[in-house]
Amino acid sequence: MSLDHPRLKPHERLAEMLAEDMARVGRTIRERMASEHAPRIPEVTAHLVEAGGKRIRPLLTLACARLCGYSGEDHIRLAATVEFIHTATLLHDDVVDESRRRRGRPTANLLWDNKSSVLVGDYLFARSFQLMVETGSLRVLDILSDAAATIAEGEVLQLTAAQNLATDEATYLKVVRGKTAALFAAAAEVGGVIAGAPDPVVRALHAYGDALGIAFQMTDDLLDYGGTSGVIGKDVGDDFRERKLTLPVIRAVAAADREERAFWTRTIETGRQEAGDLDRALEILARHGALESTRATALDWAAAARGALDGLPPHPIRETLADLADYVVERIS
Ligand code: IPE
Ligand code: IPE
Ligand code: MG
Ligand code: MG
Repeated sequence: MSLDHPRLKPHERLAEMLAEDMARVGRTIRERMASEHAPRIPEVTAHLVEAGGKRIRPLLTLACARLCGYSGEDHIRLAATVEFIHTATLLHDDVVDESRRRRGRPTANLLWDNKSSVLVGDYLFARSFQLMVETGSLRVLDILSDAAATIAEGEVLQLTAAQNLATDEATYLKVVRGKTAALFAAAAEVGGVIAGAPDPVVRALHAYGDALGIAFQMTDDLLDYGGTSGVIGKDVGDDFRERKLTLPVIRAVAAADREERAFWTRTIETGRQEAGDLDRALEILARHGALESTRATALDWAAAARGALDGLPPHPIRETLADLADYVVERIS
């Protein structure tokens, strides 16, 4: 950990190192979320954007561009693009998951309606494409449009795997890689690409983002069972209610006795959930050490993320990115 800022979390340290760039990204986001013709758009977007968020993805883009010695302007547009894509997917995701809380606020689908969330999400996607086109780099367009398609694939794969107790770890990994790691990987990669970094460096940044995103999402899935709503800013238990086969549940199902198997069949497969079922699910997860074993797997991915940075030249940003890998698993929010 850096001795200069012992109390700051790694992404907060990055935000401090990249404060000027981040301020410009914030301005770009505010400018581009405006719409002259449909006031509902800035209303919904401001509700979500002004609630904050950790801004990890745009920080990855800025950090990787700087790490590769970039001194132009396009990293600002790319960081804003990445946060726009993230914001669009959150609006859509909360509709799909029927979630009621996000970033400590009621979700847009709850405050307005599903229609507004879907359409404003579409608008933000379109705006993100306008922004990335302005860089004039076809390679960047290729990476980010691939990521957008992969996120949607991950979300759809998750939808079709939900409620199916036969879902295996390989399918779970595919979902997580798609819905979350693809954008982390692209965010890091385009930072390198815009800086004209050599291919091995670009590949290392992609591998870092991929492993970081997987560790991040596994931890998110842990927090959905073991976190505190007031701290994560989202409701705990959404995944159980939505009958999702996340890694802790997949592992508990694999180790289930007859009575536990009946419990998972009733709650996840047939969806007849009753009061007290979430607590019972937590007991079963604890009995099989499913949360600990998921954390151990997330730590392995964090180590892989750290390892991906090994070949890069020493730099304060590199060290902070390495710390970020540990942090995404330790985090409680
Ligand atoms: C939420 O991402 C969606 C997931 C991939 C779990 P973040 O936890 O990065 O969301 P914000 O932007 O900080 O709210
Ligand atoms: C996160 O999905 C990935 C995307 C938003 C594409 P989740 O449904 O797991 O994340 P949260 O818990 O709602 O943030
Ligand atoms: Mg969700
Ligand atoms: Mg979801």
